[in-house]
Amino acid sequence: MTAVPPLPAEIQTPAYVLDAEALARNMAVASRVRREAGCKVLLATKAFAFPAAFPLMRDHLDGTTASGEYEARLGREEFGKEVHVYAPAYGPGEVERLATLADHIYFNSPDQVARQLAVARTNPAVKIGARINPGYSNATLGGALYDPCAPNSRFGTTVSEIDQLPWDQIDIFHVHTLCESLHDGSVGLIEHVAKNFGDYVRRVKAVNFGGGHFINKPGYDVAKLIAAITAFRAAFGVEVILEPGAGLVVDAGYLVASVIGFHTNGRRIAILDASASTHMPDVLEVPYKPPLLGAGEPGTFANDYMLGGKTCMTGDIIGEYSFPLPLKVGDRLVFGDMMQYSFVKNTTFNGTPLPDMAVLDRDGSYRVVKRFGYAEFRNRVG
Ligand SMILES: Cc1ncc(COP(=O)(O)O)c(C=O)c1O
Repeated sequence: MTAVPPLPAEIQTPAYVLDAEALARNMAVASRVRREAGCKVLLATKAFAFPAAFPLMRDHLDGTTASGEYEARLGREEFGKEVHVYAPAYGPGEVERLATLADHIYFNSPDQVARQLAVARTNPAVKIGARINPGYSNATLGGALYDPCAPNSRFGTTVSEIDQLPWDQIDIFHVHTLCESLHDGSVGLIEHVAKNFGDYVRRVKAVNFGGGHFINKPGYDVAKLIAAITAFRAAFGVEVILEPGAGLVVDAGYLVASVIGFHTNGRRIAILDASASTHMPDVLEVPYKPPLLGAGEPGTFANDYMLGGKTCMTGDIIGEYSFPLPLKVGDRLVFGDMMQYSFVKNTTFNGTPLPDMAVLDRDGSYRVVKRFGYAEFRNRVG
C-alpha cells in the first residue's frame, strides 16, 4: 500500500498529475546512463507527449523520437534538441515534410527505403536509420501484442531481407524489441546484436537499441546496462542511442479520480469520473490492474469494491480493490504510475470529458496546465 501524495483538497477530477520530484529522480538515472555509458538517450514521445514536462527533462536527454509527423513536430517545436522519427510506413508527402522537421529518419523495410530514401535525402543533413527485426525480444508485457518480433510482425526488416538494404547509405542500425524489460532484456538485446549483426554494425555510424528499457523500474540494474553499452561501443566504435518512453516516466505521476455513484450486482461497484476505456486504455488492452494508492487487494480490508467508469462499455472496469473505510461519493482515488501511455491514448468516447493535465511541482505547489471542455469533444467530429 503506497502513500497518497500531498495533493490539494480542491483539485478538480479527473486529473493527470505529473509528480515533478519523481520525474527528477528518473531524469537523474537517465543522466547517469548518458554520462557513464557515453550514449544518447531520447524520449519516445509516443509514451509521454506532455510539453509542460519538457523543461524538466531537456537537460537530461538528447532529444525526442517520434512515431510520425505530428510527434516529430512536437519534438522540434516543444522539446528542441535532436528529433528522430520511425514509422512502419510513411504517408504521402510525410517524408518530404519530415525532412524539414527531423534530423534522423528511420525506415522499416527495403520497400520503404526504395520509395522514400531519395525524398529523405532532399535534406542532406538528415541521417538515415534502418529498423531491423533481430529475432530477439524480451517484451514482458501482453504476450504477442507487445512483442515486435512476434510471428508476422510488421516491424523491422527481417534477416531474410536484410541484404536488400543499401547499407552504404544507412547511418543507423535500429532495433526496438523490448517492452518494460529489466536489465537482462537490455543486455540480452545488446549482446544479441553484437553476436549476430556485427557485419552490419561495422557499416554504420550508430546503433539505436530502441525503447522498452525500464531503467527506472525497481529491480533494473543500471550498472549492467552501462557495462553492456560500454563493451558494445568498445567493440564496434559506434555511437549508441536508447529511446525509452515508459522507462523515463515510470511511477512519475497519477490519475486522480472521484467516486460519483454506486451500484450493486453481486459485488459492490463504485462508479468513477475516470474510466479505463477513455483514460487508462492499457488497463483493458494489456490488460493490467493499476496501483491504487492507499487501497489493497480484495479482502485486505473490510470494504471491497469493483471500480468502473461511466461509459457504456460493460468492460469499462478498472479492477477490484479493498478499502479501510466504506467509499462515499466525492472520495478521491489516486491511481499510481499513470504517466506512460495514458493521456496520449485518451478518447472522448461517450462525450467523456478529458482529465486536467496538471503538475505537482517540487515545492509542493499544484498547477493545472490545461483544462479541457466541450470544445475538445465537439472539435474532433468536424
Ligand atoms: C520504435 C520504438 N521506440 C521506442 C518505443 C518506446 O518504448 P517504451 O515506451 O516501452 O520505452 C517504442 C514503443 O512502442 C517504439 O515502438
